[in-house]
Amino acid sequence: MNTLLPGATIGVLGSGQLGRMFAMAARRMGYLVHTFSPETDTPTGQVADVEVTASYDDLAAVREFASRVEVVTFESENVPAATVEAIAGIVPVRPDGAALYTTQHRLREKTFLERAGIPVTPFRHVRTLAELSDALKTIGCPAVLKTAGFGYDGKGQRLIKTLAEGADAHASLAGQEAILEAFVDFEREVSVVCARGADGQVAHYGVVENAHERHILDCTIAPARVSGEVAREAVELATSLLEQLSLVGVLCVEFFLARDGKLFVNELAPRPHNSGHFTIDACATSQFEQQVRAVCGLSLGATEQLRPAAMANLLGDLWQDGEPDWRAACAFPNVKLHLYGKHEARPGRKMGHLTALAPTADEALSLVRAARAALTRRA
Ligand SMILES: Nc1ncnc2c1ncn2[C@@H]1O[C@H](COP(=O)(O)OP(=O)(O)O)[C@@H](O)[C@H]1O
Ligand SMILES: [Mg+2]
Repeated sequence: MNTLLPGATIGVLGSGQLGRMFAMAARRMGYLVHTFSPETDTPTGQVADVEVTASYDDLAAVREFASRVEVVTFESENVPAATVEAIAGIVPVRPDGAALYTTQHRLREKTFLERAGIPVTPFRHVRTLAELSDALKTIGCPAVLKTAGFGYDGKGQRLIKTLAEGADAHASLAGQEAILEAFVDFEREVSVVCARGADGQVAHYGVVENAHERHILDCTIAPARVSGEVAREAVELATSLLEQLSLVGVLCVEFFLARDGKLFVNELAPRPHNSGHFTIDACATSQFEQQVRAVCGLSLGATEQLRPAAMANLLGDLWQDGEPDWRAACAFPNVKLHLYGKHEARPGRKMGHLTALAPTADEALSLVRAARAALTRRA
């Protein structure tokens, strides 16, 4: 594939906030963006040049979309393999279908990681209740049952505290294939966002720290408060995965850091990630611009972090008593507001985020929390 220069058209599968921030980066650089998803008036569609609304299974619509763009990328793993295959017959897909296929299914992903010699938490494949009971006996309780496909923000996950809860948890799967994992009593969670260009060039944003609430990312602190040794190991593991997947694009690797300092890979996302949103305001090149550069075959940009930062998600819960007080958050001069254009604020739904910049990561965290609290402080 030749390098695609500004003026070329990029297709994005999926239409959420990741596609929106990608489209903003692409359009800033002079590219055109078409988005494809089953929805209309979407976060991505609102800022794209063209919004196509059709089912991923409508392969005629998928081919029509592909014929109008020069390369296709995605913002969500939940795109059927057949959709990507249909596109790949017309234009390149970056990252390619193989990387997507591996990472969109927890069992395939964990099996790939295990074979690659990457430390992962013990897991078992679960379809029947008998398999779950067996798995609970070998793995022990507590354990986490997760649907193999289509999970995000903790959806499709269930903590099992005792063997007796097995039957109930199995029923909640409603026939979906699943994976049982040992519950990890981690010290903290960290992630590495990295990228690989079409020429094999690799770049990373260092290790960041993630705090989750109800299995949903709450805050990211960049850089992470971990030892140099842990940071080096996490970056090494992440960049080796870029090579092993021959991935062209952006990859996020999520880790659990155990209390004894050991790192385990939790999951992979072959795209920009919520824990990399701070890069928009704090780094020389954002993770979204990096995705544009990689999928278009340009050189990667510098990943240098210009200031310590912290990001706080704005979930739909903040809208419970009406529109949040945007003026109050904007009264913090070193806090940046990002909203995704979603019309309905449901609890747990990611509506936007704030990024704070400060002399230290700890100060950035306090600042971003204060700004978020100010959104709902009523006079
Ligand atoms: N095995 C586990 N042990 C402890 N906590 C877990 C485990 N699996 C998931 N979690 C918690 O739930 C969060 C979301 O789970 P994850 O597997 O990353 O799924 P997703 O982000 O796709 O919803 C994790 O970041 C972590 O906080
Ligand atoms: Mg996750």
